[in-house]
Amino acid sequence: MKRIDAVIRPERLDQVKALLGSIGIQGASAAEIRGFGRQRGHTEVYRGTEYSVDFLPKVLLTIVAADEQVPKIVDAIIEGGRTGKLGDGKIFVTPVDEVIRIRTGERGEGAL
Ligand SMILES: Nc1ncnc2c1ncn2[C@@H]1O[C@H](COP(=O)(O)OP(=O)(O)OP(=O)(O)O)[C@@H](O)[C@H]1O
Ligand SMILES: [Mg+2]
Repeated sequence: MKRIDAVIRPERLDQVKALLGSIGIQGASAAEIRGFGRQRGHTEVYRGTEYSVDFLPKVLLTIVAADEQVPKIVDAIIEGGRTGKLGDGKIFVTPVDEVIRIRTGERGEGAL
C-alpha cells in the first residue's frame, strides 16, 4: 500500500475529485493548508528579480491505496490539477505499513 499526499490548488479540487471518483478510489482526506514552493508563495518581479512574499492557500489531499492503483491516481491528480503555471503543486508517494478499519478490525488492503 502507498500513501499519496498531493498538494493542489484549492480551485482544482473539484476537478481532481471528479476524476478520482471516476477511477473508483475508496476514500480520501482533504485539508486546507498553506504552503510555499520554490517561489516561496506569491511571486513578484522587481528589477528583473523574482521575489517571494508569503504562504499561499493550498489543499492537501491524502489517499491510501493499493500499489497497483497508484499510477492512475497520480495521473488523475495531474490531469485535474495542472494549469501549467507556477504553483500547481506536488505529489508525494510513501509506503504504508498497515491500515486498520476501526469498526471491524479488518487490516491491510481489505481495510481500505
Ligand atoms: N518540498 C516540499 N515539501 C513539502 N511541501 C511542498 C514542497 N514543495 C512544494 N510543496 C507544497 O506544494 C505547494 C505548491 O508548490 P509548487 O507547485 O509551487 O512547487 P514548486 O517546486 O515551486 O513548483 P513550480 O515551479 O511549478 O511552482 C506549496 O505551496 C507547498 O504547500
Ligand atoms: Mg512554485
